[in-house]
Amino acid sequence: MTVSAASERSNDPGLDRYAVLGNPIAHSRSPSIHARFAAQTGQPISYEKLLVPLGGFAAAVASFVAAGGRGANVTVPFKLDACALADYLSTRAAAAGAVNTLRFENGRVFGDNTDGIGLVTDLTVNAGVALQGKRILLVGAGGAAQGVILPLLDQQPAQLVIANRTESKARQVAARFTSDVLDVCPLEVLDGPFDVVINATAASLGNAVPAIPVSVFSSHTLAYDMMYGPEPTAFMRFAAGHGAAVRDGLGMLVEQAAEAFLVWRGVRPATAEVLAALRSTIEGSAA
Ligand code: ATR
Repeated sequence: MTVSAASERSNDPGLDRYAVLGNPIAHSRSPSIHARFAAQTGQPISYEKLLVPLGGFAAAVASFVAAGGRGANVTVPFKLDACALADYLSTRAAAAGAVNTLRFENGRVFGDNTDGIGLVTDLTVNAGVALQGKRILLVGAGGAAQGVILPLLDQQPAQLVIANRTESKARQVAARFTSDVLDVCPLEVLDGPFDVVINATAASLGNAVPAIPVSVFSSHTLAYDMMYGPEPTAFMRFAAGHGAAVRDGLGMLVEQAAEAFLVWRGVRPATAEVLAALRSTIEGSAA
């Protein structure tokens, strides 16, 4: 099966239907990623984008299931709705309090969250940075940050510090986890350097950088932005300017998709070529 065949034949009755649900959804890369996974693994699936009206998540899922949908990815702003809608959750989805992957089977809805394992795989496998024994700084306390805390703790870092502009929110989030290595610190008094600094804030959307001291970075730091785009984000430029190696979140996007594919199909696609192809498409779109 070719890539184009997988995406063009989305209504082929011989294919199992999957979709990504969000609002907005037009720029989602997920259909192209899953079409490549389908081609690579020979799995007979179609994958489409569904624009879901605000307030209409449960109805959209019900009609997709009625139309034969077997599973879905869920993106902004519906990850909490998906968590509430699921009949049962994976441990990692329950810890995240958010769901990015749904599987429909036997009239029940299974909710999972593959964002955190996607980040960890991108860091440890693609970037080759082991996390065990390391000092990790997680900046942000919103949905994106909450989704990755348990998978990061599972890597047994020496310390995981959560720092957020609104400190009380970081404290509330951290209180949900039981761990000796998890700490909360106000942004402005962070004591660096850290081995890995992860930007899970929405600041990059506004071309802004969280107000973190430059002492969090050293020449041994990997600064990771969960956002991605054709150019390095403001956070990546800031971190690189203070000696850190930098990486954007495109690998996390591909790895979370591969984990979702595994949840649905029992097969984990290889990701390296898909990530390289996506990178060249995105960089080409900037020209
Ligand atoms: P998401 O689901 O993408 O995490 P969210 O739940 O709205 O979105 O959370 C956004 C996060 O980015 C929060 O941690 C927010 O900090 P506050 O809790 O203080 O609002 C953070 N954030 C957004 N813009 C920021 C900025 N300019 N500087 C620092 N943090 C910012």
